[in-house]
Amino acid sequence: MLRAIYPGSFDPVTYGHLDIIRRSCKIVDELVVGVLNNNAKMPLFSVEERVKMLQEVTKDLKNVKIVPFHGLLIDFAREMDAYVVIRGLRAITDFEYELQMSQTNHKLEPDLETMFLTTSIEYSYLSSTTVREIATYGGDVSQFVPEEVRIALKEKMKTKGVYNKYE
Ligand code: PNS
Repeated sequence: MLRAIYPGSFDPVTYGHLDIIRRSCKIVDELVVGVLNNNAKMPLFSVEERVKMLQEVTKDLKNVKIVPFHGLLIDFAREMDAYVVIRGLRAITDFEYELQMSQTNHKLEPDLETMFLTTSIEYSYLSSTTVREIATYGGDVSQFVPEEVRIALKEKMKTKGVYNKYE
């Protein structure tokens, strides 16, 4: 049985992430979406909120589970008994960081392999960072994230006194 991990911050999950999740779960038997719990990164959404959003938007996928993790990815992979990591590559700008990360992980855990899926062209520009920025200024994020995430962003922004200009 092939179990793989798709790790990330998912702050918040976008259509780009979902594209990688949907395509990956056709390739592997079980996909563990690992949600990094790292408060040093000062996420907009708590790890519980990010896990909940991911659960909602993947509920139709039978071989996907969402699991929070902290610490090293190699330790999480061992804990999950998964020796394949999946990452999405959007553009050449992602390559340097991804190469460094996969080579470091491979050095630390030689049994761990990283597989890259190139992001579908329609999502190649998309990132959680830009989604957060648009939402921070009250912009419309409906093209970039599923409806559940759009609503969660709207509610989060309301707590910060930001109101969507497009409703
Ligand atoms: O969505 P992101 O922020 O690009 O995901 C980055 C992530 C979570 C995959 C990466 O930061 C990670 O694996 N963090 C865990 C800590 C770790 O193992 N670091 C060493 C890898 S070089």
